[in-house]
Amino acid sequence: MWLGRTLWLLLCYVQYTKCNVLEEYEEISRNILYPPEDIIANALPIEVGKDRSSGCICRSTKNRKVIVCFGNYECKKFPKVNRQSEMLVVRTTVLPEVRVGELDSLYYLKALRIEANHQLKYLQPGLFRNLTTLHQLSISYNTALHVILEGTFDGLKSLRELILVNNGFTNILRIAPAFQPTKLPSLRKLDLSENSFEMIPENAFQSMRGSPLRKLDINLCRLDFIHPDSFLHLEMLQELSIGENDLNSSIIGDFLISLKKNNRNLTHLDLNSMGFRKHPPRHLMEIIANTTVERLTLSNNQFEIISDDTFPTMTNIKVLELRGVSALSIGPNAFEPKKFPDLRILLLSGNNLPGIHWKHISNQQLVLLDLSLNKGTTSNPMYFEIDRGAFLDCRELRVLNLAFNRMKSIFDYTFIGLEKLKMLNLENGTIFHIGDGTFKPMRYLEILNLANNPLTANENLTSAMFEGLNELKILILKNCGIKHFYNEDNVFKMMPNLTHLILRNNELYYITPELLKPLKNLQVLDLSENLLISWGKPLFLVSGLKPHSLYLTDNKISHFTLAMIQDMNILFENKGNFTIEIDLMDNLFICDCASMYKSYAWLQVNGSAALKEYFRQSNFLCSSPDVWEDRRVADYFSSIKNMRCLMYEKISNMMLLVWTAPSIVTLIFLALIVAFVYKYKLYITYWLFLAKLALGRKFLKQSKAEGLQVICPKYDAFVSYCSEDREFVSEMVNQLERSPPCLKLCIYERDFEIGSFISEAILGSIKESRYIILIISNNFAKSQWCRWETQLAEYHRLFLEDGTTYDPLVLIRIGNVESKYLTTTLKFLLKTKIYLSWDERRSDEFWMKLRGVIVKN
Ligand SMILES: *[C@@H]1O[C@H](CO)[C@@H](O)[C@H](O)[C@H]1NC(C)=O
Ligand SMILES: *[C@@H]1O[C@H](CO)[C@@H](O)[C@H](O)[C@H]1NC(C)=O
Ligand SMILES: *[C@@H]1O[C@H](CO)[C@@H](O)[C@H](O)[C@H]1NC(C)=O
Ligand SMILES: *[C@@H]1O[C@H](CO)[C@@H](O)[C@H](O)[C@H]1NC(C)=O
Ligand SMILES: *[C@@H]1O[C@H](CO)[C@@H](O)[C@H](O)[C@H]1NC(C)=O
Ligand SMILES: *[C@@H]1O[C@H](CO)[C@@H](O)[C@H](O)[C@H]1NC(C)=O
Ligand SMILES: *[C@@H]1O[C@H](CO)[C@@H](O)[C@H](O)[C@H]1NC(C)=O
Ligand SMILES: *[C@@H]1O[C@H](CO)[C@@H](O)[C@H](O)[C@H]1NC(C)=O
Ligand SMILES: *[C@@H]1O[C@H](CO)[C@@H](O)[C@H](O)[C@H]1NC(C)=O
Repeated sequence: MWLGRTLWLLLCYVQYTKCNVLEEYEEISRNILYPPEDIIANALPIEVGKDRSSGCICRSTKNRKVIVCFGNYECKKFPKVNRQSEMLVVRTTVLPEVRVGELDSLYYLKALRIEANHQLKYLQPGLFRNLTTLHQLSISYNTALHVILEGTFDGLKSLRELILVNNGFTNILRIAPAFQPTKLPSLRKLDLSENSFEMIPENAFQSMRGSPLRKLDINLCRLDFIHPDSFLHLEMLQELSIGENDLNSSIIGDFLISLKKNNRNLTHLDLNSMGFRKHPPRHLMEIIANTTVERLTLSNNQFEIISDDTFPTMTNIKVLELRGVSALSIGPNAFEPKKFPDLRILLLSGNNLPGIHWKHISNQQLVLLDLSLNKGTTSNPMYFEIDRGAFLDCRELRVLNLAFNRMKSIFDYTFIGLEKLKMLNLENGTIFHIGDGTFKPMRYLEILNLANNPLTANENLTSAMFEGLNELKILILKNCGIKHFYNEDNVFKMMPNLTHLILRNNELYYITPELLKPLKNLQVLDLSENLLISWGKPLFLVSGLKPHSLYLTDNKISHFTLAMIQDMNILFENKGNFTIEIDLMDNLFICDCASMYKSYAWLQVNGSAALKEYFRQSNFLCSSPDVWEDRRVADYFSSIKNMRCLMYEKISNMMLLVWTAPSIVTLIFLALIVAFVYKYKLYITYWLFLAKLALGRKFLKQSKAEGLQVICPKYDAFVSYCSEDREFVSEMVNQLERSPPCLKLCIYERDFEIGSFISEAILGSIKESRYIILIISNNFAKSQWCRWETQLAEYHRLFLEDGTTYDPLVLIRIGNVESKYLTTTLKFLLKTKIYLSWDERRSDEFWMKLRGVIVKN
């Protein structure tokens, strides 16, 4: 879920700079909907080296801004890092202490984290003396660290954020003196969560008097008491989080009143998971309404029914968080403008709301409404529905999040009233119907996320559905099961201003320039995880599009066509101020003369310097032939000139000559053809037979349609195998034929009519079988005859491709098959199809699966 949301907001805030969606609320909404990314959880691809003196291992992120040092049992001293970076993380070491001097050389750091070092007991005062530019310091999850001595943070004069989560602290009085403003003059945020303080006495923060601290977090500290005057010493305090503690409402009310009396202006109050039940404590809400609190978090409490008078009038509240409060219903006027005149952001995700069923939600003051994830659980699902005209009064709404709801369909009346909406998130619903003109009421929509919806399960996408999206900039159609776009009814002509088109993870196998033509402003085109093969007609040259990012990862591209390379060249030539990104990883490139030479020649003669550089740097790999498997296409390109390709080209040219010159050569050529036909007559008979077969099928289908005749297949499955695998096959016969529901298999040695010509017989049996089971082993791959059968089976499959999901090929793999024996067809099959692997230890499961596959249809 976070990924989806991240994508959504990332697109808005990072890539599309002019996204002034929330103007003044941008900061707030960004933090709410797009929590900061955990950068150190990312991959650490670069080895910085093992520090011999300490025994720690250090790795860094690609941009070398973050270095992480770890090494469970060897890392006993603070690591010495030679390379400068912005952030250093020292985690999961067995470091017992850190002493003065050990950090002096790290004076350049902006952030330092000393985390999860479970032996760490002692930090010598003054150890940070040379870290004068440090902004952020975390000393967390060091469970043996019980105290922080007074002079520990001396010298951290730029430190703004101090995180001391989940250490072994038990008494706040013993650590607070270290935070004195003379020692930490720039401190703005302090997080002391997850330490077992149990109480905050009156003088807890006395030593911090005069501190510029704005934000204090003491969540999950087993608190059951806070002295009403304890926060008074923090004069600048604005944001306070005390969630997940055992504090009753009168304790909270008391310190709020005290703060108010003393003119302290708290703006954020987080009361997440306080165990409030049934309804928010009324008296506490009245007290809060009387303070300067603007942002109130009540998430993860339990308010099943939020009625019209659950909340008192709260004139200062701008942001109200009610996520995960098990709400089943909300009164139509619970948040009406009279009670919440300043409310702009209302977060109701993760509840059990059945949708919007009251006429006109009356929150016309809202700018952002989050109703996502109201879908219950698998055993207790909720179905989300929006009544006709529910948003008629929501004229100010800019962002509407309806993601992760079980919403089935949306219609032209669903979104009426949302005149100013800029972002609509509908990802991970179960939307399979979009009515014509659904998005028309939202004239200014800029971002539409429809990812992970079965949009094309029952209907084609039509331009009528997307009417009126003139201002749309970002359209996300990831994983929507899209197989085709139709040029006659071009969906994209409705959205001429589109800059980002995300079509990731669909089933597209071609894309045409006509389709893309309307998208003159496109910058990012993501077509990864589709079934694209190659394109023979230049896409961008013809359509005039010049995206600067093109993602084609994980498709089935096998040929590097001239059109592709010309297209790429166009992109590089027109890049303007952008850096061009073209991703071709994880495709099935065939690195031979036939599929590469022309493009190679073109690149050498006509390619721009930038394109050549791109190729030199590129990492996408060949998938066949065997010698080039898993080697870079770029390497193939650079070796091409020493290879037989020139010869190949000469032969091609000669052929051309032969075709164009009607001469004796032609006759010789014809003679050659005759000889060829004679030599390979068996193959030709086979092809003719296949053609007949295909025609026969077509005829069969027609006659079925006319209801004349239905032919039942004689066998459930035809088994293609090698005599070496006979034992396995006989076990298979045992398993599938002898126990009910009994299946009928066609086995080579048993079922062939004696005397019939072998290939004819096989073709006949394949025709009479519903499934073809290939038992793929090393022997199978080696044997010529089996290869023959495989090809047969594959062509049979191709002939059957008529759009139905029925696929007669079933692959079983026995053991490891060496790739040198695999034909292209077999390799392709193993790469593209799901196969069953024989595992003796789990044979029961295997037979059950196999039976399941065959019985299904
Ligand atoms: C969203 O949908 C995708 C694809 O169906 C699925 O993999 C993912 O887990 C879903 N996310 C959530 C949070 O349900
Ligand atoms: C302390 O920091 C200064 C820069 O502020 C640096 O020049 C000096 O080398 C550092 N001291 C040590 C011992 O590395
Ligand atoms: C809240 O807790 C305090 C101290 O534990 C107790 O004195 C007081 O009675 C409690 N108030 C309520 C309303 O439970
Ligand atoms: C709080 O706000 C009031 C009114 O705006 C102001 O007079 C007072 O000085 C503020 N208090 C602090 C500590 O900034
Ligand atoms: C709100 O504050 C006013 C004065 O600032 C006070 O008279 C009133 O009693 C307060 N109301 C509550 C519920 O605390
Ligand atoms: C989708 O469009 C194609 C071509 O216009 C048509 O053949 C097909 O029947 C349509 N499918 C559905 C489900 O409407
Ligand atoms: C693109 O958006 C602009 C405003 O941002 C609008 O004026 C223009 O008409 C749109 N282009 C088209 C072709 O609708
Ligand atoms: C490229 O950047 C320069 C300066 O940043 C700017 O003046 C110029 O207009 C930009 N060109 C394009 C095509 O955006
Ligand atoms: C280079 O481009 C020219 C003009 O488009 C074309 O005629 C020529 O065939 C190209 N060269 C190669 C090697 O493809």
